[in-house]
Amino acid sequence: MLSQEKITKFLNPAIPVHLKVFEEISSTNEALFHEAQQKKVPPGTVYLAERQKAGRGRLNRKWESPAGTGLWFSLLLKPKINYHYTNLINLYTAYALAAFLEREVCTVLGRPVVVDLKWPNDVYIRGQKVAGILLKSNFNGPQFDFMVVGIGLNVNQRLNDFSSDIRQKATSLLLATGRVWNREKLFGRFMNFYFENYQHFFPANFSQIPVLYQQKMSFSSQPIRIQTGTEEVCGKIESISPEGYLILNCGNVTKTIATGDIFPQQMESADDFSR
Ligand code: BTN
Repeated sequence: MLSQEKITKFLNPAIPVHLKVFEEISSTNEALFHEAQQKKVPPGTVYLAERQKAGRGRLNRKWESPAGTGLWFSLLLKPKINYHYTNLINLYTAYALAAFLEREVCTVLGRPVVVDLKWPNDVYIRGQKVAGILLKSNFNGPQFDFMVVGIGLNVNQRLNDFSSDIRQKATSLLLATGRVWNREKLFGRFMNFYFENYQHFFPANFSQIPVLYQQKMSFSSQPIRIQTGTEEVCGKIESISPEGYLILNCGNVTKTIATGDIFPQQMESADDFSR
């Protein structure tokens, strides 16, 4: 079981983290969101679970969260930004995870392990997903109130720990680096990294996030297909907007996309963006 005491030893006392560790929970996202709706919960509250019985990913997909292998956690944030920019929290979180993993993993192996981002918030190592992020915002009327940022990081899974549904697509830090990671230390150090940088970016410097994010983003300038929920669009990624949306060059039109699933695509002709 993840030990709150051990994690606390790695936490920088200056960062505003209020940690609660659960042995088992339905979903850290659901529990923290519900708690924050019922009563006043301070920003920086973090729920971490050894195991989730009903971990959820984007589009209500199941998120495998067994005991002993990963880090399944949710953060409560109240960034002082206009709600038009809440997508930047998604992007910041993905960027922070990638930057942190590159730094920690590189230090241990002495050679670079490139971590890249699939917009909006998937974290990949060598083409396989190592972490996912799920963000839920709460509004009080038109007023943005709080958001819960859920993060699932695969740490010590071996191939057979993943179900056959995701075995080909998923990876873990163990599989990517060949070593078992101390989850308490990794988590404590990530919290320090996340909140130290969060304080730098929000609210003063959040306009830097799309620029930093793009440096780690995969499929830049490549033909892609994107499933948005309501439509399927093809084009080439041009950039990320100041609000964190994807700007897609679809030949004669440019589209701004708020969320969706990206798939790489082979194009017959560079000018043919239609389907
Ligand atoms: C995705 O890639 O689809 C997002 C996955 C997010 C999983 C995390 S694990 C902690 C938190 N609790 C959940 O139920 N989901 C998020």
